[in-house]
Amino acid sequence: MNKQETYLQLLPQIRALIAGEQDLIANMANIVAALYEAFGFWWTGFYRVSDDMLVLGPFQGPIACTRIPHGRGVCGSAWAQGQTIIVPNVHEFAGHIACSSASNSEIVVPIRSDGRVIAVLDIDSTDYNAFDSTDQYYLEQVAAILSAG
Ligand code: SME
Repeated sequence: MNKQETYLQLLPQIRALIAGEQDLIANMANIVAALYEAFGFWWTGFYRVSDDMLVLGPFQGPIACTRIPHGRGVCGSAWAQGQTIIVPNVHEFAGHIACSSASNSEIVVPIRSDGRVIAVLDIDSTDYNAFDSTDQYYLEQVAAILSAG
């Protein structure tokens, strides 16, 4: 199964998982578990905007930094720009925050509510160049499902 097929299988599962559940943390927890199980990425998790910082939320993978300031690292930059950021090689991203030295590429997708970024979905891979426009397209759909839920 290629990446697109995996996402296409996963999206209805994610919709069903969070249907009828309003709690954001519970929904984030099931979404990261589903993504992690389907793809086996090194780190898959959410950071939530709280007190003008990104604060670690539900995740799967090794322990991670708990707080990221606005505009800092890939996560803080995606929050500040309100846009998905794909980093093919994290060692070349100025200001990248290395929670784990095993991470080599990363994608960060903002989650919105009423037009404001309320969280980001962050996925790290040990492979270089692991993420492309297909990941962006489907992970932005995951973000929309979570926001709508
Ligand atoms: N690398 C991220 C920090 C979070 S960890 O990857 C889990 C960044 O630069 O924002």
